Amino acid sequence: MSIDYSEKIPNNVDLAGDRKLQRALESWQPNFLNWWKTMGPAVPTEDVYLRTAVAVGREGWAHFDHVPMDEYRWGVFLAERNSDRRIAFGEQKGEPVWQQVPGEYRADLQRLIVIQGDTEPASVEQQRRLGETAPSLYDLRNLFQVNVEEGRHLWAMVYLLHAYFGRAGREEAEALLHRNSGDLDSPRILGAFNEETPDWLSFFMFTYFTDRDGKYQLGTLKESAFDPLSRTCEFMLKEEAHHMFVGTTGVDRVVARTAELMREYDTEDIAPHGGIPLDVVQKYINFHYSVSLDLFGSERSTNAANYFTAGLKGRWQEERRKDDHVLTEDAAHIDVVRDGEITTDEVSALLALNHDLRREYIADCETGLKRWNRVLDKAGITRRLYLPHVGFNREVGQFADHHVTPKGDLIGADVWEASKDRWLPSEADKTHVRSLMRPVYEPGKIAGWIAPPSKGINDKPVEYEYVRFP
Ligand SMILES: [Fe+2]
Ligand SMILES: [Fe+2]
Repeated sequence: MSIDYSEKIPNNVDLAGDRKLQRALESWQPNFLNWWKTMGPAVPTEDVYLRTAVAVGREGWAHFDHVPMDEYRWGVFLAERNSDRRIAFGEQKGEPVWQQVPGEYRADLQRLIVIQGDTEPASVEQQRRLGETAPSLYDLRNLFQVNVEEGRHLWAMVYLLHAYFGRAGREEAEALLHRNSGDLDSPRILGAFNEETPDWLSFFMFTYFTDRDGKYQLGTLKESAFDPLSRTCEFMLKEEAHHMFVGTTGVDRVVARTAELMREYDTEDIAPHGGIPLDVVQKYINFHYSVSLDLFGSERSTNAANYFTAGLKGRWQEERRKDDHVLTEDAAHIDVVRDGEITTDEVSALLALNHDLRREYIADCETGLKRWNRVLDKAGITRRLYLPHVGFNREVGQFADHHVTPKGDLIGADVWEASKDRWLPSEADKTHVRSLMRPVYEPGKIAGWIAPPSKGINDKPVEYEYVRFP
């Protein structure tokens, strides 16, 4: 079904055919817009060169144009329905997928949707002030694109809550606008979404590491037996790919500029020359990677096992896995700390599903490191960036009560305290990075701490006026 843009809420779910639902969402809409105005991008703009979804098919789903941001057409877009779709895993494997929520899974499904939904507006809140210091109009436009799409992802989850969870769902939809990132009284649900995104290096790291966590979470929900959730997540994943592109290429460009300055001044200490030292880039990687690992939950999880068995949440690329998709007979290994040593335990594969997803995520993260190290290699720099040990700086799971170095050595609290500024961004590092954050809003110009992008958006030149100001 194509997207209807004549409606107040653009959609491809025939909202007009369900007046009650339409009215409920239309009454949520002003609250959303109010939230966007108070918690969304803080910099006033005339319009922004944004993409809007016009179809959900494989090709040609996006339309690009200059749009005033608060007139962006947030809507409800689900991937097309496959009427033969069957449950791919768990104890109901092979049965037709569900078009309604089975009563026994109502609470769990609602919880999963609320947790996913909570992350979407949280990131907009975290990135609220970045528009004041973008390194170029190209980057500013990308920030706003990410922001409007996270807003749309909130719509995606709110649609499910309104359409399938009755009054409790409507109340949760309201609460999604009332919790705020970093708010002391009503914070966002997950830790990483209450951290600040105070500078553009953090933004690129966030879109690389934390949006990538989102990709993996959405990947598990895309497998869900609850078909509307699956179709919603499938389309969100298409939008999510751009967010990760922003992170990957953003870090590419920081590393490229850092390498250039290192060569030019023949020193690692490029801070006095207006660059971000490689050391600091590594510390930002250490931080964002470790807080993103926490989002995968405990290595050993009965919730994850129950969700899988019930068909609520599958594995990453479930259908490509070569096993029985039930896993009751299978074992897996998880990392544990025992007797002062990091080792592994064998557990039932069902209990290790968070660990399984995290492993897929880590392998994906490695591709960025390879890329960034290629940039260094090409520039003739021998130092390399790396992912820290999985136990480093963790607050969730097996490593939460331990201190682990980036290389994977267990250390005591005193050593940790004395050394952590070598591994995580120190106050001095953050102050330096922040000092570089000055807006560069002349078309085609770029800040000195980052290399220009290799090409523009949608075949437009890099110097295109992607954002216009009043
Ligand atoms: Fe999202
Ligand atoms: Fe995202």
